[in-house]
Amino acid sequence: HADQMIERLPVGVCGLDEDGRIIYLNRRLASWLGGEPEDFNDGTVELADLIVGDGVNGEVKFKVAGGEPIRCFVTHSINAPGTGPVRSQAVVFPDPMPAHEWEHALAETERRVRWFFDESPLSIVLADMSGTVTDANRAFIVTAGQTHDKVVGRSILELIVPEDRDEVARYLSKAVMGMGKGGQIEARLAGARGVAAQIYLQRVAGRSGEAGALLLNFLDTTEQKNLEEQFAQSQKMQAVGQLAGGVAHDFNNLLTAMIGFCDLLLSRHGPGDPSFADIMQIKQNANRAANLVRQLLAFSRRQTLQPKIINITDALAEMSNLLRRLIGEKIDLKVSHGRDIGLVKVDPGQLDQVIINLVVNARDAMAGEGGTLTVQTSPEIIDEPTATGTEIIPPGDYIGIKVTDTGIGIPKENLTRIFEPFFSTKQRGEGTGLGLSTVYGIVKQTGGFIAVNSEEGKGTTFTIYLPRYEASEQELAETQAVIEETPSRDLTGTGAILLVEDEDAVRTFGARALRSKGYEVLEANNGDNALEVLNNTDKTIDLVISDVVMPGIDGPTLIRMLREQKPELKVIFISGYAEDTYRDELDEENGVHFLPKPFSLKDLATKVKEVL
Ligand SMILES: Nc1ncnc2c1ncn2[C@@H]1O[C@H](COP(=O)(O)OP(=O)(O)OP(=O)(O)O)[C@@H](O)[C@H]1O
Ligand SMILES: [Mg+2]
Repeated sequence: HADQMIERLPVGVCGLDEDGRIIYLNRRLASWLGGEPEDFNDGTVELADLIVGDGVNGEVKFKVAGGEPIRCFVTHSINAPGTGPVRSQAVVFPDPMPAHEWEHALAETERRVRWFFDESPLSIVLADMSGTVTDANRAFIVTAGQTHDKVVGRSILELIVPEDRDEVARYLSKAVMGMGKGGQIEARLAGARGVAAQIYLQRVAGRSGEAGALLLNFLDTTEQKNLEEQFAQSQKMQAVGQLAGGVAHDFNNLLTAMIGFCDLLLSRHGPGDPSFADIMQIKQNANRAANLVRQLLAFSRRQTLQPKIINITDALAEMSNLLRRLIGEKIDLKVSHGRDIGLVKVDPGQLDQVIINLVVNARDAMAGEGGTLTVQTSPEIIDEPTATGTEIIPPGDYIGIKVTDTGIGIPKENLTRIFEPFFSTKQRGEGTGLGLSTVYGIVKQTGGFIAVNSEEGKGTTFTIYLPRYEASEQELAETQAVIEETPSRDLTGTGAILLVEDEDAVRTFGARALRSKGYEVLEANNGDNALEVLNNTDKTIDLVISDVVMPGIDGPTLIRMLREQKPELKVIFISGYAEDTYRDELDEENGVHFLPKPFSLKDLATKVKEVL
């Protein structure tokens, strides 16, 4: 039975004696060799005689009587010890394909695999079980910014940035031991490009007796990472802005009162008075605080802007003397104006602030050896959405203002942080870290964009893009008129004023200030109260000065109600906010004006005089 079974097997079988001579050979093997079992099994033929070349194990070629040799695979087994003389048995697995075809097919398969490997858009790396890279495809070489030579023969871990190596090592050893659930890991790749990648590892089982290999796929996630970071960054800026704006608004009210009362005191204690210097000290400090608050408000884009249509070339020309003085003698200033760059609608004071902040930063960056500071304007036409690194500029006509220095530059890791309030690399007391926050806030509130380019040790360029403004003839004429108007000096006046303000300190100071200038002042601490006050008086009110945000009836609502009865009623809104909700209400032609907080006695009196 056993013999019959052996005859029917689809493999060749032969039995050998202890000297390797064939004593048994099945019919199938005999037929492959072009003969009968009897031709081989008379005990005179050795297995080695039937085989081309050396070796009787593994892949071999058998001689064929009257034909091409055939390729086969041979394995040997030995009978169990103690079961008689040592015998061995060879099993021959057939490979019916003639050798040349077989080789051709193999070459073709290899070529295809290679092609697939090299042309795959996915980055693939092969490694042995010890983690040494044996091959890497073109996509990987390009993605990682490496060369083939630098990758092959190295450990996989050397492809990863040092910070991420431990984690990747843990992942690899788990996967190699077959414990990983075939998941993936995120890591950054070493190499010039700083690529972030998701790595998928697979263990490829080897043939019996071989160790197997590791197959790694890398998915480039750099762009996605950048987007995520950008998003997180802009959210952070927004959150910080809201917080800063809230605090600043409250401080604004307090400071308005402090500065106001100082003004009142100063009007009674002139320069000869022993208290004069002390009061001046208080006022100066309060002014400095107000300045900080103003910067915070600017950052949170809640500053009250008073946009005018201006020509940047003129604005810069006017500033260049000031800038020269600011930067000192060791630094060269070059101002270059673009031709026909057009007009912008900005708050001129704020634009000055932006330029000054950038210039002062540039000066500080060149504090050591001096250098060159270039301020350059140019028309910038953006055709398609353009990324600045932190933002995306939509297509449009812009005016570019570039401030370039040859200073120390900004390290890459700081680039995303410099616009945050209170981010400063300067010594304590030398920088508050509000300069660029202010710039950012003003530029954004004006509808513009800002981009930074910097190289450590070489210098930095800040570019501001402001939307180009197409002004009508009439607007142009009006801008001219405003410039030529001269403010009045004599700040006293007459008339009845209703002052509505919920912050007691601000209201008290305002009322006293105005009375001291000769006006008659009625006070109310909110909208409802204002209506009551008006009901109980028979005076004709010439002007209402009102806060905007108040509990109950707010400023704009109150004014709308009053103007229904008296459409020509003059109004000044006072506020620390520039909220779009009441921006529409402002209309100087119709007697609705605006005074930003904090204001001094003089600011208030000048405004009132101007309006009445
Ligand atoms: N032109 C520049 N070159 C090099 N570093 C710069 C430049 N501009 C800004 N920085 C960096 O950005 C940081 C933040 O600037 P920012 O103007 O907001 O604050 P500051 O200058 O430190 O303080 P402040 O402007 O409030 O006095 C600086 O501390 C500096 O590290
Ligand atoms: Mg600064």
